[in-house]
Amino acid sequence: MRLMLVIGARPQIIKSAPVIHEALKRSEIELQLIHTGQHYDYEMSRMLFGELDLPDPLANLGVGSGTHAYQTGKMLIELEKTIMDLGPDMVLVPGDTNSTLAGALAAVKLHVPVAHLEAGARSYDMQMPEEINRRLTDHCSSLLFASTRNCVEKLAGEGIQRRHIRLSGDTMYDAMLQHMKRADETEILKKLDLKREEYVVLTLHRPENVDAPEKLERIIKALIVLKGLAIVFPVHPRTKKRLATVKLMRHKAAVEHIKLIEPVGYEDMLHLTMNAKMVFTDSGGLQKEAFWLHTPCITLRDTTEWTETTDLGANILVGDNPQKIAEAAKEIIEDADVKAKLRRLKNPYGDGRASEKIIRYILKRR
Ligand code: UD1
Repeated sequence: MRLMLVIGARPQIIKSAPVIHEALKRSEIELQLIHTGQHYDYEMSRMLFGELDLPDPLANLGVGSGTHAYQTGKMLIELEKTIMDLGPDMVLVPGDTNSTLAGALAAVKLHVPVAHLEAGARSYDMQMPEEINRRLTDHCSSLLFASTRNCVEKLAGEGIQRRHIRLSGDTMYDAMLQHMKRADETEILKKLDLKREEYVVLTLHRPENVDAPEKLERIIKALIVLKGLAIVFPVHPRTKKRLATVKLMRHKAAVEHIKLIEPVGYEDMLHLTMNAKMVFTDSGGLQKEAFWLHTPCITLRDTTEWTETTDLGANILVGDNPQKIAEAAKEIIEDADVKAKLRRLKNPYGDGRASEKIIRYILKRR
């Protein structure tokens, strides 16, 4: 069976890694790994291939940056050619990026079945490009791998027939378990001169947070007042460009408080997350990772697609509201048992064997 897997952005490489390894174990599968080139910086792509021990993609379409229509359109044109050349029996697309949607659309229009990994996640916020991408992808897929029962129900509620949906669990959880031992041993805290629980992790890259300098400034201002806690901020390339225009970053409090670093590797990021007092983020994946690592998460958005984490009380949505940010942080700081409480929560994201199940389901569908 020729299985094409389309990736392009950093989180897609991570969530696909365990699926790639599982596929490579099966002699019945010829894996065709295609990189759209959406992310092209070393730290956003190449570095992860090494760390996750992944084979080189069969092709990198080199699409790069651009507006949504330009980026998605260029991917569509290139992916259509690639699919026609390589003749896959199925195209698997992970997550919710422009690469996901382009892969799904190019395939389904050539009558090649589409399988969607991370199907049924919903924030119900159509201002987010990712929400548009995942909804459209789900509705042109014939095999939908849902991370949780909740995702299955959301899909069924949209009229997608249950015979197309599989409750697989979450492959990011598989990836995390597979890298846990090495992640535990990295030297990143020493390298950054940090101590366990004496810092917080901050990541920001959503256009709604970083494209307006006053919003970025508001969030940073609310964080630098956290007493006794350093802020480790691995900066996404999109954010790096914008941060240069934020005056506050040159102030003494920000310079002393914030450790601006390049995007770190996967295991270093897990290490930083597991040892942090808390995480502030607008990323989707990091909300789940913080949950699995029992670190409280404060999400700098008004909605989330991973509502399981907020329903369980492990994740608090604060948007960019400084008062809500301060209140949520205070509550965590004052609760000495917070990590122990998070440890007792039941994990709705599967048992760490999602990738194995996904490959089995794909082979059954052949
Ligand atoms: C994309 C995904 C998002 C995912 C995120 C993870 C979409 C719509 N968004 O957002 O779902 O959570 O990746 O990181 O697909 N850039 C670089 N170097 C790179 C990559 C990007 O400099 O390696 C710059 C580009 O100039 C670009 C900007 O960052 O304009 C944004 O990149 P883009 O791929 O459009 O989206 P992300 O914000 O990274």
